[in-house]
Amino acid sequence: MSPPKRIVTIDGPSGGGKSTVSRTLAAKLHFTYLDTGAMYRAVAYQCRKLGLPAEEGPRLAELLASLRMELLPPLPGGDDVRVLVEGVEIGPELRTPEMGMLASQYSALPMVRTTLTRLQQEIGSAGRIVAEGRDIGTVVFPDAAWKFFLDASAEVRARRRAAQLRSKGETVDEQALLAQIIKRDKDDRERSLAPLVAAPDAVIIDSSQIPADEVVARMHAHILATSCFCDQ
Ligand code: DC
Repeated sequence: MSPPKRIVTIDGPSGGGKSTVSRTLAAKLHFTYLDTGAMYRAVAYQCRKLGLPAEEGPRLAELLASLRMELLPPLPGGDDVRVLVEGVEIGPELRTPEMGMLASQYSALPMVRTTLTRLQQEIGSAGRIVAEGRDIGTVVFPDAAWKFFLDASAEVRARRRAAQLRSKGETVDEQALLAQIIKRDKDDRERSLAPLVAAPDAVIIDSSQIPADEVVARMHAHILATSCFCDQ
C-alpha cells in the first residue's frame, strides 16, 4: 500500500470556522489552500447568470464541459480566495448567504459534483494542500494523510457568520441567518451524493467553545505528530 498523500482535509458544516482555520493552517505548513465551497458557489453564480435552473440537462452539461475556472489567492489585506469564471472575476456576491444557499442546491447535482471533484483532484494531485469542504475526506481525497471534521452548534455558527458579514459592512438578520444555516446543513447532510459526513478516520473537533487559533494549534500538533507516516 502506498503511503498517504500530504493532503489535509477539513470538512464540516457552514460557518464552523473552516475557512479561517484552513487558510491559517495552510500558511503555517506552507501548503496551498483549496476552498472547494468557492468552486460550488462559482458554478451556482454562473448558472444563475445564464438562467440555468438547478436541474440536470444538456445546457448544464455543456456549461460544465467547457467550464474555465481559476482560483487566485486573496488580495493583500483580504481573506477570500478569488474566483474567475471564463476569465471574469466574480465579486463579493460570491460570498453572500444567498449564494451559499444556491450553491447547496447546485451541489446536489451529480454532473456538478463529478466535474468539480475531478478539478479538485487535479489541483491536489501533487499534494501539499489544505482543502476544505463537505466531502473532501470522504470522496475527493479519501487517501489524505490528515482528515479533520470541524463542527460547532448552529447558534454559534450563525453568530460567527453574522459578525463576519457585519465586519464587511452588511446589515444582518441573525435569526434569518440561523434558519438558513439549519436548512443548508440539513440539505447538505441528507443529499444522496457525497453528503456532509465525517470520514471514519477524521479527527472531530467541536469549535463551539474553542477559538480558531487553538483549533489550528491542535491540528498542527496532530499533523507534526503523525507526519512520519506520509509520502514526501
Ligand atoms: O463552504 P461554503 O459555504 O462556501 O459552501 C457552499 C455550498 O457548496 C455548501 O452549502 C454545499 C456546497 N459544497 C459541497 O457540496 N461540497 C463541498 N466540498 C463544498 C461545498
